[in-house]
Amino acid sequence: MPSLNIPRHVAVIMDGNGRWAKKRLMPRSFGHKSGMDAMIKLAECAQDCGVKYLTVYVLSTENFKRPKEEIEALFELIRKYFTENVKKLYARGAKIRIIGDLSILPEDIRKTLEESQKTMPETAEFTLVFAINYGSRSEILKAVNRAVEGGKAVDEEQFANYLYTADIPDPDLIIRTGGEKRLSNFLVYQAAYAELYFTNVYFPDFNKRQFLKALEEYSKRERRFGNI
Ligand code: FPP
Repeated sequence: MPSLNIPRHVAVIMDGNGRWAKKRLMPRSFGHKSGMDAMIKLAECAQDCGVKYLTVYVLSTENFKRPKEEIEALFELIRKYFTENVKKLYARGAKIRIIGDLSILPEDIRKTLEESQKTMPETAEFTLVFAINYGSRSEILKAVNRAVEGGKAVDEEQFANYLYTADIPDPDLIIRTGGEKRLSNFLVYQAAYAELYFTNVYFPDFNKRQFLKALEEYSKRERRFGNI
């Protein structure tokens, strides 16, 4: 394999869980569980490849319009991940970060998220960022309002510090699985110079081979950041 140019930050829109399950005549919740398993493997693979930040879109603000039963199934996965699976991630020397508006999550989940961070290593060479009840427009509006409260014009660097992603470098590569070609309110401000990679593969099938394919495609792109 040719040597790969490894992006520092990869962000993933994990789409297609529902359709993956439907194809197997299984409930959507089974698709999300399989998506979580794929996400766990993806994080290990990204870390092993030398990626420094992996951001995964677990729940968008808009996802809350889904039937209560589906939201409950996703909540249950969040509970499971942050009580059981996160330990393995820490044991691999990785950290987590959570972005989004957590205020509308059930109290027990907020506690679980808080608790899970108490045993986190202080420093790590890999950070898994979970976007939960995340929406870019609301993130940008919150940042604008905080900047206005400060009463002084801010520059790009200062503005970035008001975003949920403060201190996280902008994504270099954004991957969307499941066939749609849009950002769906995900890291819209931060994506200004990101390379976009779309695949028809449903997220539960997005394995190491698929990820390496995305990295190969990224390695071929010429990033000019507006220069010539
Ligand atoms: C979009 O697919 C996916 C989601 C709304 C949920 C993504 C969540 C996971 C992969 C697992 C979560 C991980 C943790 C840590 C809890 P969709 O259901 O919209 O797919 P469809 O377009 O085929 O219906």
